[in-house]
Amino acid sequence: MPGKLRLGVNIDHVATVRNARGGTHPDPIRAALVAKAAGADGITAHLREDRRHIRDGDIGRIMREVDLPLNFEMAATDEMIALVLENKPHAACLVPEKREEVTTEGGLDAAGLHNQLKTPIAEMSDAGARVSLFIEADERQLEAAKSLGAPVVELHTGTYCEAHEAGDADEVAKQLDRLRKGAEICESLGIECHMGHGLSFETVKPIAAIPQVMELNIGHFLIGEAIFLGLDGGIREMRRLMDEARA
Ligand code: PXP
Repeated sequence: MPGKLRLGVNIDHVATVRNARGGTHPDPIRAALVAKAAGADGITAHLREDRRHIRDGDIGRIMREVDLPLNFEMAATDEMIALVLENKPHAACLVPEKREEVTTEGGLDAAGLHNQLKTPIAEMSDAGARVSLFIEADERQLEAAKSLGAPVVELHTGTYCEAHEAGDADEVAKQLDRLRKGAEICESLGIECHMGHGLSFETVKPIAAIPQVMELNIGHFLIGEAIFLGLDGGIREMRRLMDEARA
């Protein structure tokens, strides 16, 4: 019987809307509190180098005002590592970050960046953060995560979701197979498996049904769907679909 699947709600795009007018509304911390009431198990926020959505002050406020574990998404830069050591979030998820990209387009090259990542991962782990690496479901990357001592990986579901959007059933099946194999490798390596990126009501169930997956991190779709269903309604529906797939 697989364990309970946790839902981490990414609140970045509440901050995107706030920043469009430069003021304080809508407040991402208020969204985090609504997410908690709707059944979220954690809050995810990505502090980007260019501060395009989440700002430094949001991180401190989430830590003080929201009684849920924070998954702090970040590039492995000295500035972000210092912020983890200062704020002590529950988890630190290392993602690749390019200034010009619209969103996190692919997984971190944990294998290629092994030497650069070793010290930051050790420092953040020593400070009490559960370090996770946002990587592709690829054996080489998973083995690198293991040798780097990361207790958690988050497997990138973006290519699967894009194949679904394109209506390419063969590619959807291929990508699901790749993600399932990735989850099995996690289990064999003793690494906790999370997944996320691009998930929606239509794509979540096959992912939630993978028994080794312990957590999904979902943002853009839920914040967009809040326009139609409300944030509370969208999160509750996502939770229902996840639970249905898991049962
Ligand atoms: N997980 C990680 C590591 C991410 O970088 C993102 C996007 O910020 C997400 C999950 C959430 O993706 P989405 O907003 O497409 O649901």
